[in-house]
Amino acid sequence: MSAVRAPIVTIDGPSGSGKGTISRAVARIAGWHLLDSGALYRLVALAGLEHKLELDDVAGHARLAAAMSVRFGTGPDAEQVLLEGRDVTGAIRSEEMGQGASRVAAWPAVRQALLERQRAFAEPPGLVADGRDMGTVVFPQAQLKIFLTASPEERARRRYKQLKEKGSGASLSALSREIAERDARDSSRAVAPLVPAADAALIDSTGLGIEAVIERVIELGRRRALWA
Ligand code: DC
Repeated sequence: MSAVRAPIVTIDGPSGSGKGTISRAVARIAGWHLLDSGALYRLVALAGLEHKLELDDVAGHARLAAAMSVRFGTGPDAEQVLLEGRDVTGAIRSEEMGQGASRVAAWPAVRQALLERQRAFAEPPGLVADGRDMGTVVFPQAQLKIFLTASPEERARRRYKQLKEKGSGASLSALSREIAERDARDSSRAVAPLVPAADAALIDSTGLGIEAVIERVIELGRRRALWA
């Protein structure tokens, strides 16, 4: 854990709930750091592929999780992700890496290897942490915990739109199936499953615009005196 105590807002939820977009916006408005923990699991999956590890090599993936060199962009390059100095921003966003991330994320040794790495992001003036177990496991002391959901149909539609904008082909029915598979695996795993923290504020973003969700989170933070 970082020696300096920084305030923390956690935003957890299933894939396609909009937590990436919301977390980024809240971090920007607050002027705080951002942790995209899903990117770390995606990087482990990518590194495993590049090292030609067997898909079930738990120890090998855990070693990579602990040793890989990762850098996240800041400022205008905020979305940039570097693995061993190489830009892998696009590579980790594929459905394949999403599925791979969900697979390696079920292994306790990999989660353990990433734990301190994630906690090191808690630096002043504050941190917005986006993931599945930010409020339950990684930052149980967080000042504000949000659990963001949306209906599975809405989440598949959002993902479809995202992939289409990036020029990747995808079918809505295949995406719906993949999202359901990923939800089931992320929610049912033995270690750090996707569940809301007992003290999390639930926000269902189905039918809500991005701005409305951001405003709700900002208002919750204001009530806790996290920002003005
Ligand atoms: O948020 P994302 O789609 O980038 O996450 C990819 C996968 O990583 C997700 O299916 C589950 C896993 N993950 C996790 O287990 N714990 C986290 N804190 C973040 C992601």
